Amino acid sequence: MANLWGGRFTEATDSSAYRFNQSVFFDRNMYREDIEGSMAHARMLGKCGIIPAGDADLIISGLDSILKDIDEGRLEISEEAEDIHSFIESALTERIGDAGKRLHTGRSRNDQVALDMKLYTRNRILILDDGLKALQETLLGIMEQNLETFMPGFTHLQKAQPVTLAHHLGAYFEMFIRDRDRLFDILDRMDYCPLGSGALAGTTYPLDRDMTADLLGFKHGPTRNSMDSVSDRDYLIETLSALSIIMMHLSRFSEEIIIWNSNEYRFVEIDDRYSTGSSIMPQKKNPDIAELCRGKTGRVYGSLMSLLTTMKGIPLAYDKDMQEDKEAAFDAMENVTNCVREFTGMLDTITFNKEIMEQSAKKGFTNATDAADYLVKKGLPFRDAHSVVGRLVLRCIDKGIAIDDLSLEELREESELFDNDIYDAISLKTCVDKRLTKGAPGSERMKEEIEYYRGYLKKER
Ligand code: ARG
Repeated sequence: MANLWGGRFTEATDSSAYRFNQSVFFDRNMYREDIEGSMAHARMLGKCGIIPAGDADLIISGLDSILKDIDEGRLEISEEAEDIHSFIESALTERIGDAGKRLHTGRSRNDQVALDMKLYTRNRILILDDGLKALQETLLGIMEQNLETFMPGFTHLQKAQPVTLAHHLGAYFEMFIRDRDRLFDILDRMDYCPLGSGALAGTTYPLDRDMTADLLGFKHGPTRNSMDSVSDRDYLIETLSALSIIMMHLSRFSEEIIIWNSNEYRFVEIDDRYSTGSSIMPQKKNPDIAELCRGKTGRVYGSLMSLLTTMKGIPLAYDKDMQEDKEAAFDAMENVTNCVREFTGMLDTITFNKEIMEQSAKKGFTNATDAADYLVKKGLPFRDAHSVVGRLVLRCIDKGIAIDDLSLEELREESELFDNDIYDAISLKTCVDKRLTKGAPGSERMKEEIEYYRGYLKKER
């Protein structure tokens, strides 16, 4: 296949160097964005009288038929092409003749690829955001059902104070709110159209850059500096950074699911549809989906590091190094979207063993702080109360029981201030429901948060 720049060359590229230089194997992913960008460019060229209006029409209908043919499998993207841009342009010229050769007037592959990547990233962010929203819907559904499902809250992975499942999952809901906010911040900041920046220094043709920016849906219009336009990949680095944070959240969540699903905890049971077995150990049921989400976090961080490093030494404006932005970015976008989707499926079908969770909170002295607070309310200084309850806990550890299992007599051996109302004061329900500060797990408070989350999910972006 002829390349786009043969004129000043007397020899063909070495065949292995040609292959080394090719990007069609991966930039073919952006065929739709490339065609949409070219259609807008052609329409503008025609309207500004830079090419004949009839040629612009021919180009647009030719591109439209190429798009349909690729979509429907009638046209195969040739692996001989240097890149997707050359492939589409030569397919166009094959179809409509000389008019096709006018498409690249006032344009360079540098502003073309800058545009394609932005359009592609924008589309992928929106797909990922739909996935995050579906994950939030699933989370909120579980939260609504579990306002009174008590479980231990942990610090240092040691049982700390009782919370509810709704409250625990609410922490992840908050993380995903921030994740989605970050994506939309990026969409806004990148919403300038680079098309019309040429190779680096604009062009002498009277392009209407506002028109193409508008046709392609860029809210803030065209970019302001043509050298920056063709060499800017900040938005991609920001996107990979936001994707890394999403994976960090998903990985923490996965880690908890894996722990909760272990034989020791048994807080949850992952559904058969989202687990796998062992080829040798018949009893095994493994949490592979969660493990893969945790594992794939590494490659997404890797993509971020790769692009940051690629970009750090590049002099203005475009350099071929920047072709290396694609594989890492495509891989990250694809994998994060897949992880969010599969994680949601796993969560949607998981069973929470509420009784075991509650027993675990009970057996773990998670109400010890509340027992101390009880004594404080009866007049004992907190430091003394802390020490009384510490001694009670020691007794319980010896006997393998909970504080609530001690008789009033036994309690009184440590402090005369204990009365019969202690049992109600340190029941899990009281411990949780009395925690009503903003953000706390008390069910009356959580109901307000859940109402807020419902409203949040109803809002259109
Ligand atoms: N395949 C190239 C890339 O991904 C397209 C831009 C080529 N520009 C150039 N001046 N060779 O960056």
